[in-house]
Amino acid sequence: MENSINKIAVLTSGGDAPGMNAAIRAVVRSCVYHNIACVGVFRGYEGLIEGAFEPLDARSVKNIINRGGTFLKSARSKEFRTKQGREKAYKHLKKQNIDALVVIGGDGTFSGAIVFNQEFNFPIVGIPGTIDNDINGTDFTIGYDTALNTVVEAIDKIRDTAISHSRLFLIEVMGRDAGDIALNAGIGAGAEEILIPELNMGKERLLASLKRSKKSGKSSSIVVVAEGDQIGKNIFGLAQYIQENLEDYECKVTVLGHIQRGGSPSCHDRVLASRLGVGAIDALLAGEREVMIGIVHNKVVSVDFKKSLEGSSKIDTDLIRVADIISI
Ligand code: F6P
Repeated sequence: MENSINKIAVLTSGGDAPGMNAAIRAVVRSCVYHNIACVGVFRGYEGLIEGAFEPLDARSVKNIINRGGTFLKSARSKEFRTKQGREKAYKHLKKQNIDALVVIGGDGTFSGAIVFNQEFNFPIVGIPGTIDNDINGTDFTIGYDTALNTVVEAIDKIRDTAISHSRLFLIEVMGRDAGDIALNAGIGAGAEEILIPELNMGKERLLASLKRSKKSGKSSSIVVVAEGDQIGKNIFGLAQYIQENLEDYECKVTVLGHIQRGGSPSCHDRVLASRLGVGAIDALLAGEREVMIGIVHNKVVSVDFKKSLEGSSKIDTDLIRVADIISI
């Protein structure tokens, strides 16, 4: 297809993720490389509605590859969910002569992009940026690896004090709908139990398992709980239930919270973000107009936008088996 892309806009939306800056940098520099003008949109779809645009060049994105967060800032825009909001956004894009939009974010960002693309036939390419890793069509999302390392480092520290006091810790990690962080960080940090939204373990089975491991000689335990897990949603209630039924242990709760979203991106996330950012501009130049750029088996791929939101979680059930075996 003929290249009719002369000017693009880039934004970050939804929960920020380490590596978003590296992705913006790659998009901007790829534009410079291909002689395409690039503007940054501040505060995600909010900025699109308000017209908060700023031209970006190669030097605008210097010294950010190592920085967490997103210098373009982010938001969860309520107004973009309305037709009027999206119309305002479209008018700003037209006024600025923008030919295509690159959105970096998670499922909420992509849902908005799909509606916008359908309503206005406006070319959009998505780059998966979320610590949750809950996007289909890509093996990894930007920020996930850094978040895993942050969680494992935190659990290692909690384990030191858990051992010293012979305590049981319930550690809540992020993941409203996806257990990827809990499962992988749980395995990496040697957790005794891992609770994920994709699999309802039930309070009784958890208790029985904790009792078994106590009996087998364990003097402390770590249970990693994804925030969206059925029985872990109310983590303090769960701690109370365990405390009442497993008196040998003192049970403590740590909610890791937003610490998981911050920090300098890992090398894996920086490289991933750089590859996907370049891939987004390559896709636009190749005539693609409604795709997400992902990574599958270490190859950059473009996926139909709707597919990225399709289907259930991609949790590898073998990981659950591995976690069960090694926590014996
Ligand atoms: O989407 C990423 C995420 O970090 C989820 O894991 C978490 O549930 C959510 O964002 C928290 O969002 P907020 O910062 O808006 O409360």
